[in-house]
Amino acid sequence: MCGIFGIITSEEQPLGPVLIEAARRLAYRGYDSVGCATVAADGTIDLRKDVGRIGEVSARLGFAEMRGRRGITQLRWATFGAPSQANAQPHLDSDGDLVGAHNGNVVNNVQLRELFIREGLTVRGTNDGETCVHAVERHYDRNGGDMIAAIRAAYADLEGDYAFVITHQNDHRLYAIKKGSGLVAGLGEGMSCVSSDLPSILPLTRRVLYVRDGEIAVLTPDGVELYSVASGERIAREPEWYDGPIEVAEKGGYPHFMLKEIHEQPAVAGELLHLLDNSPHVARFLQALQARRERPVHLVGCGTSYHACLLGAYYLGQLAGRAALPVLGPQFIEQCGACVGPEDVAVFVSQSGETKDVLNAVKVMRERGGQVLGVLNVLGSTLAQQSDCYLPLACGYEISVPATKTFVNQAVLFLYLAYRLAGRNAAELDVLPGLLAQTLDATEGAARQVARYLEPWSALHYLGYGITHPIALEAALKLKEITYAHCEGMFSSEFKHGPLSAVHSDYPVLFVTAPGDEGMMISHINEVTTRGGHAIAIAAEHPALRANADDYLVVPQAAREFMPILATLPAQLVAYYMSVARGIDPDFPRNLSKTLTVD
Ligand code: AGP
Repeated sequence: MCGIFGIITSEEQPLGPVLIEAARRLAYRGYDSVGCATVAADGTIDLRKDVGRIGEVSARLGFAEMRGRRGITQLRWATFGAPSQANAQPHLDSDGDLVGAHNGNVVNNVQLRELFIREGLTVRGTNDGETCVHAVERHYDRNGGDMIAAIRAAYADLEGDYAFVITHQNDHRLYAIKKGSGLVAGLGEGMSCVSSDLPSILPLTRRVLYVRDGEIAVLTPDGVELYSVASGERIAREPEWYDGPIEVAEKGGYPHFMLKEIHEQPAVAGELLHLLDNSPHVARFLQALQARRERPVHLVGCGTSYHACLLGAYYLGQLAGRAALPVLGPQFIEQCGACVGPEDVAVFVSQSGETKDVLNAVKVMRERGGQVLGVLNVLGSTLAQQSDCYLPLACGYEISVPATKTFVNQAVLFLYLAYRLAGRNAAELDVLPGLLAQTLDATEGAARQVARYLEPWSALHYLGYGITHPIALEAALKLKEITYAHCEGMFSSEFKHGPLSAVHSDYPVLFVTAPGDEGMMISHINEVTTRGGHAIAIAAEHPALRANADDYLVVPQAAREFMPILATLPAQLVAYYMSVARGIDPDFPRNLSKTLTVD
């Protein structure tokens, strides 16, 4: 998830230190490259950028000495185009009089770049931030140098979710546009600024103006004006005063990164779907999955990513008739290492792309001549480098140790591939982000209450049936990870084969149920409640299920295959609120680390 920051001042001054500080405050979002551009009073543009950490690149390129009346800094998290100097941001247009940077994903980047090259524009890299700058450049002259008109026309060309900031060397204004990605402006004494989020603005001013989708913010040293992209008309909105602490702003106003990341899930799922619709790598994945259907495709991961593999195997099998074998990273070597060969394909799934147990399995697959497909969140990671082809999860930086949004996007990605393999219209999945948002609204209050019930229990069970079995495992892992209670996830039919003896008065068992499985689940619920246990259902509204359960987390009605993804959200919320109720910091649970680079 990239971050942008721009500033305009009444007097020329050293802007380097301000840009460095802003970049540092955006760094928590994650990045692989950093750059700064300043525009002096005479219009000279100074652009410095490269791959690397802020401190190191800044020292090497001398960011601190940069001066100007306008400045832009950007932290890049590679999605389109590898991390490289050319792809680092900000970017110049063809003749170097426009400079800009973006945050987000322009999903028709490839098509637009080809168009720009055909039209004779100077395209230097493959990054979609550069595409935003050229998109404005293309309309700038045609509109007689009217920047607002050029941005409005560019907005129509640029598909995806993004925000960008841009300025022309001879126009003492900064222009910022928002479509899907975050953008907030700050108003100070003789200065205005704009950023992807609040933390980089607050050291400069607490008078802020939130830019909304489809709006252009025009910044001068005296203030910020908003314009509608649709009508070109001025929009009247007063700035507000932010008086919260900076640490809360970093967490988007949430008390923990985990809760922030849970609430980001509808947006990142939407971004992923856009990205997949336009990714040339999807065709390669589908080709690999379609080949040699008589051999199972291996889905390899650890922890939460393994649970996504389990769900992926259901999706590929049930929806596309493609046999898939979910395997733990270290188990792959032991169980499958001797029987895979050049005719086999394995999908390696990892948020970090650095999990040693997964990379060891990749090595074995490579040695045996098999095809290595990657699904990962951190671009530039070892898994990205070692894959024949990979798909990004497009979640941005996941800070909290418990994986939340990356799991949901892993599941969405497998569902997308299964739809495409089955020849179904993937546009049917476009309802998912909305359903995820509804699920959060519908279940957060009830999840808090359920967490209160669970808080004193040191042992409990999560049960799922069929397609929701992976969610029971994932929900149990999340709960164990951040509450320190023991929680076992199981296939509900298996419960009677032994673990049922754990049930006694009020013992909590949570049941995750997909449409069509309610009858079976009611009988499994009764095995628990007749022995005094407390049954908590996570399902869409179903009168008979409601009549049999003690508590009910109601997920919106949706297609059967959507239920595992939707039901994940209340399970995450239950774990989060139980963790907080126990006085634990869910972002940094004891003994755990976000990236496990050891065997
Ligand atoms: C998830 O909440 C855990 N932090 C953990 O199980 C994690 O999913 C596992 O270590 C695998 O990590 P990866 O996805 O980065 O490979």
